[in-house]
Amino acid sequence: MAIEIIATGRAIPAKRLTNHDLASRLDTTDEWIRSHTGIGARHIAEEGVAASDLALEAAWNALAMAAEQRGVTKETLVQSLDLIILGSTSPDYYGVPSTACIVQDKLGVRNAAALDICAACSGFIYGLELAAGFLALNASRKRALVIGAEILSRIADWNDRGTAVLFGDGAGAVLIEQTEPSGGGRRGLLRSMLRADGSGAESLIIRQGGSRNPYHGTGDERPPRVEMDGRAVYNFAVKALIGTIETLLAGENLTIHDVARIIPHQANARIVQAAAKRLKIPESKFFLNIEEYANTSAASIPIALDELNRAGGLQPGDLIMTIGFGGGLTYGGNLIVW
Ligand code: COA
Repeated sequence: MAIEIIATGRAIPAKRLTNHDLASRLDTTDEWIRSHTGIGARHIAEEGVAASDLALEAAWNALAMAAEQRGVTKETLVQSLDLIILGSTSPDYYGVPSTACIVQDKLGVRNAAALDICAACSGFIYGLELAAGFLALNASRKRALVIGAEILSRIADWNDRGTAVLFGDGAGAVLIEQTEPSGGGRRGLLRSMLRADGSGAESLIIRQGGSRNPYHGTGDERPPRVEMDGRAVYNFAVKALIGTIETLLAGENLTIHDVARIIPHQANARIVQAAAKRLKIPESKFFLNIEEYANTSAASIPIALDELNRAGGLQPGDLIMTIGFGGGLTYGGNLIVW
């Protein structure tokens, strides 16, 4: 039995905000943002568009890809879903209902479980492992959608140049399937590593709006917005990248030469460059599209997978590694034979 990614999809809002656009309303420059992060632009959802809307578009795109491969309609395929799992830091609603349930309803899926997971920028790598485990537990469960969807522009503090420049909106989805052994070697998800370090919770936090600090919208309360200790998160992220690569490789007795591509969470190109330098891995092994999309949290890895996949950058049999890290703190990765 294998759990394979059989299709990918993404949804990117058309509205594009460049660093120059931001510099006209914040005390920042294109030069600062590029040199400190590698970001050149971000895409911003129109008013009225929620995370579930982008998630739905990405999901249909993945379903359409799979349907075309199988010679069936995507409406038929959608009814074979057993699970929809969605990672988001900017869900449609806080707490209830889950954004996954909204997607389930709009897809018209009748017999699937649906839930959100809160693992910030590690949402996709957590979701993939959890969905794979859900399928593997029962041979009658065949397919699941794993989605990362974010409208971070709604929770960014647009007065804080230290965070506002970092984030963008978007969604990515993968369709995974439980497949029978084919005798052709190992396929699909080989191994994941999922870790958490809640001692770092304060370094990336939306302080208001939960049961700890309910938001009443009165007085001098701050509205729910992302707050970040950039330096602490940077140091954590570099260590998380290095540790995840080393642990995943050691677990399968592999070297970095066996890995065709590393798809890291797109938080900051400098984080990737620092980890690559420490591990003596060519930077070209890491796929980066942060220049165009900025940090889309849980969506960044499935967006990158879809972009690579549709550009022919992932060949059957390629060993790829996804790595996530972010609020919680959470981190980890997946090792996948494409
Ligand atoms: N434009 C211009 N100047 C800026 C700026 C901006 N957008 N943001 C911060 N600065 C300024 C600061 O005010 C500070 O000025 P000062 O020296 O006069 O006080 C200076 O730049 C250095 O700030 P600092 O925060 O030390 O910069 P940095 O080199 O640590 O870079 C980050 C800041 C946010 C880019 C970096 O810490 C980072 O990438 N951290 C990880 C963030 C992340 O990836 N989060 C998501 C994880 S999933």
